[in-house]
Amino acid sequence: MTKFHVCAAADLPSGEAKRIESEPAVSVFHVGGEYFALADLCTHGDASMADGYIEDDCTVECPLHAARFCLRTGKALSQPAYIDLATYPVSIEDGEIYVTVE
Ligand code: FES
Repeated sequence: MTKFHVCAAADLPSGEAKRIESEPAVSVFHVGGEYFALADLCTHGDASMADGYIEDDCTVECPLHAARFCLRTGKALSQPAYIDLATYPVSIEDGEIYVTVE
């Protein structure tokens, strides 16, 4: 398990995401004060979920073929993806965002 510094919480506004070059790469999302971390690579193809469209219902839509995933659980909610994204724990410490990747 490795803990990665993402950025200052103030530098990730609600509705935005940031990709972390961990192995595997992870995307960290901010929606209304909640932070979520998912595997960055879509389970359907070669697309970065950090480039996806974040919705207020805590879902993200893949930028390539529009599959939707739950930010809370990583669950694939619509085709063409049917494999869930891995999720990772996020912590906020002294105003800084961290993600722990296994
Ligand atoms: Fe994400 Fe196809 S690459 S839905």
